Amino acid sequence: MGTNRRMATTIEELEKRRELARLGGGEKRIAAQHAKGRLTARERLSVLLDPGSFEEYDMFVEHNATDFGMAEQKIPGDGVVTGSGTINGRLVYVFAQDFTVFGGSLSERHAEKICKVMDMAMKVGAPVIGLNDSGGARIQEGVASLAGYANVFQRNVLASGVIPQVSLIMGPCAGGAVYSPAMTDFIFMVKDSSYMFVTGPEVVKTVTNEIVTQEELGGAVTHTTKSGVADVAFENDIDALLATREFFDFLPLSNRHEQPERPCEDPVDRIEDSLDTLVPPSAATPYDMHELIRKVADEGDFFELQPAHAANIIIGFCRIEGRTVGIVANQPMVLAGVLDINSAKKAARFVRFCDAFDIPILTFVDVPGFLPGVGQEHHGIIKHGAKLLFAYAEATVPKITVITRKAYGGAYDVMSSKHLRGDLNYAWPTAEIAVMGAKGAVEIIFRGKTAKEIAEHTQEYEERFANPFVAASMGFIDEVIMPHSTRRRVAMGLRKLRNKQLENPWKKHDNIPL
Ligand code: HXC
Repeated sequence: MGTNRRMATTIEELEKRRELARLGGGEKRIAAQHAKGRLTARERLSVLLDPGSFEEYDMFVEHNATDFGMAEQKIPGDGVVTGSGTINGRLVYVFAQDFTVFGGSLSERHAEKICKVMDMAMKVGAPVIGLNDSGGARIQEGVASLAGYANVFQRNVLASGVIPQVSLIMGPCAGGAVYSPAMTDFIFMVKDSSYMFVTGPEVVKTVTNEIVTQEELGGAVTHTTKSGVADVAFENDIDALLATREFFDFLPLSNRHEQPERPCEDPVDRIEDSLDTLVPPSAATPYDMHELIRKVADEGDFFELQPAHAANIIIGFCRIEGRTVGIVANQPMVLAGVLDINSAKKAARFVRFCDAFDIPILTFVDVPGFLPGVGQEHHGIIKHGAKLLFAYAEATVPKITVITRKAYGGAYDVMSSKHLRGDLNYAWPTAEIAVMGAKGAVEIIFRGKTAKEIAEHTQEYEERFANPFVAASMGFIDEVIMPHSTRRRVAMGLRKLRNKQLENPWKKHDNIPL
């Protein structure tokens, strides 16, 4: 009887402690968080994870600081909610900073909690999703907090390429704190509610006299258009979290897990007659490459990354026969699909992600070359363009390339050409694979000739070279295919390549141009 009563009291005690911990910084601060249009850490996790799947760790961890009256201010959990759960049944480790507790600021213990879930994720092989909402280093703790950040950074780096890491920025993320998300694979932000910068508007004003708002300096729109630091901007917390669930389904759990596979009802041999007229008769007329991507993908489903940054290249995930495929595609609608600094950097990191996690890469090519200009040269297009070349060349995953129209010059080589170990290189009959456009070529070969002669030679050059057959005659194109059968060709190719084996020579690591 006595034991039972004792048991009942201890259970009650646990319930009480849990309730207190779940309250974080208290009702008032929760209301303040809601008033800013933001959810609390726990509410966010309840949207992100499958119902009832969250197992929390370290709910009762408290900080160990004593200075500045901190000994008297302890809140169980210490500003970050950590644990594991599932998304559509697949394991994920999570941490969610709780702004209601010391502004979500990072203490030594707060950092230890994050490190613990990262270590677990590495041991078992599961992604980590971090929900960031923090005032930065816990100011009362000083250097102990900086040590905490560095311990997280170190783990971000060791985990890179082993488990997928995704960051959601759902509030402030400033100072050195930005570098943990920066080293993760993908960053999603919430519009008008999140920001990332190394130094805020006040410091910027003092140092450079520039007057700028938080939103302009490092808001979601800035980072998903201008800087390219973040991948996608969402309207609110719920949209960001639900999209993250959808996105998660594309990712393998780790570099030692198989690709996720879902049943596919979309016929693999679906014919798309409309693709036969996708490329307009005039080489100067653009068309939307998204149409091709959606017509090849299972059920037209494409999760695009960085849609608003360097839109002259498209990157993202789709599925073919239920398995994840990474898409890289030139976009003729933007800057004629040219390769420039931003597009090369954007695509290079994506190619490397796919390669690290064994995701096949499907490349659609319509590229007039590299963007000329003093600005591009002075900002290092040589090194940045080389990133994409390097990334494709080192990738050992299945690589399928379809040239729809232009594939000119160095950009032809870069875009997953046969010469960079492309496994299946297809061209549509509309492809033009040449060292450069006909007019430019003729102006060089026939310098000094009259306009009439140039026009004649241009037509001659076009007839001779503006087609896929010269490259095909050299074996650089495996097959010239009908546009309408692209999905079937690609799907068959991916099936064949499923057990592809290719290894690069042993090395400690490579030295990609940075
Ligand atoms: C301790 C902090 C804190 C911090 C916020 N709080 N930031 N406590 N350390 N870094 C506390 C506040 O005291 C407040 O406590 C509560 O969190 C909510 O903060 P508010 O200021 O009321 O919220 P808001 O008005 O929304 O402003 C958010 C904010 C602001 C812009 C983030 O709090 C702020 O500027 N904080 C300081 C940011 C900063 O300088 N951090 C250190 C940067 S250095 P009460 O009890 O009143 O609710 C850094 C280096 C990292 O981070 C290096 C890594 C290598």
